[in-house]
Amino acid sequence: MGNYSAQKPRVLLTEPIFPEVHKLLEQHTCLTIGERGTLNTENELLKQIAGYEGILSMLSNPFTAKVINAAQNLKVIANHAVGYNNIDTEACKKKNIRVANTPGVLTNATADGTLALMLSCLRNIPQADRFVRAAKFDGWHPTGFLGMELTGKNLGVLGLGQIGKAVATRCKAFGMQVFYHNRNRLSLNLEKELGVTYCASVEDLAKKADILTLHCPLTEETHHLIDKSVFSVMKNNAWLINATRGPVVKESDLAEALHSGKIAGAGLDVYEFEPHILDRLMSAPNTILLPHIASATRETRLKMGMLAAGAILKELCNTELEHNFVV
Ligand code: DGY
Repeated sequence: MGNYSAQKPRVLLTEPIFPEVHKLLEQHTCLTIGERGTLNTENELLKQIAGYEGILSMLSNPFTAKVINAAQNLKVIANHAVGYNNIDTEACKKKNIRVANTPGVLTNATADGTLALMLSCLRNIPQADRFVRAAKFDGWHPTGFLGMELTGKNLGVLGLGQIGKAVATRCKAFGMQVFYHNRNRLSLNLEKELGVTYCASVEDLAKKADILTLHCPLTEETHHLIDKSVFSVMKNNAWLINATRGPVVKESDLAEALHSGKIAGAGLDVYEFEPHILDRLMSAPNTILLPHIASATRETRLKMGMLAAGAILKELCNTELEHNFVV
């Protein structure tokens, strides 16, 4: 890595994204593009961070306090994600480093992805596809691949932010009852408008839900919020869907709940130790595992890249493009 130019601010994009975003950054900055996967450790970031004024990061890059404290010229980190739990924002504040993320542009794609995962779970879609490819299809079967329908079921949404609301709206169109739990309750007017019912605790929500879907950010308070105490109150035929952040769920407890039949199954897009997945989870019954793709549409990922680049250019080049700072 290197590529120094005295005139333009030095920016590191930690792995390749879209050529359109590369081009935009290249016009205004001296851009270095990291090789995918090489900046996913504290040690590697420690080696690189002193050389840059701006970093466009991925959610897999751990900007711990140790890494931030090693920065010498860094003014902005723009995370290519709505979640920014990989960045120690307190350490950034102390060093006057701004932090940006990409909210809004991924709401619909992530909500669609969540619904796709939910329906895949409830209707055995991946299993049915494998069955056909294995040449086992011998014609319509009256009791083959029976699933569960959404209509009339209770959806429990943990975290009714932008994505949670978009999932709730979609599920209401399927005829579901929507319950939610948030740290801060919505106004009664908004609850009425959205047609959602508040539950005062995670346990109350878990008891009601036929499908419990997680959309809260990962923070100290939400780390392992879903553990065996929650699984123990869930219905035996209930499903867990997680398309937010893996560590919100204590994965070993989830694997146990799945193997013991305490809950019906799970649809997961994210993992506690991503990209590593516990063997007990890999072998769990009624579990669909996706590689963190809920927001993965071309339109959305391009907008995310542009929004993150906008924050870098705003901070380093005073260029007015769309951006969003959290710090
Ligand atoms: C996010 O933006 O936080 C998503 O997890 C990335 O798709």
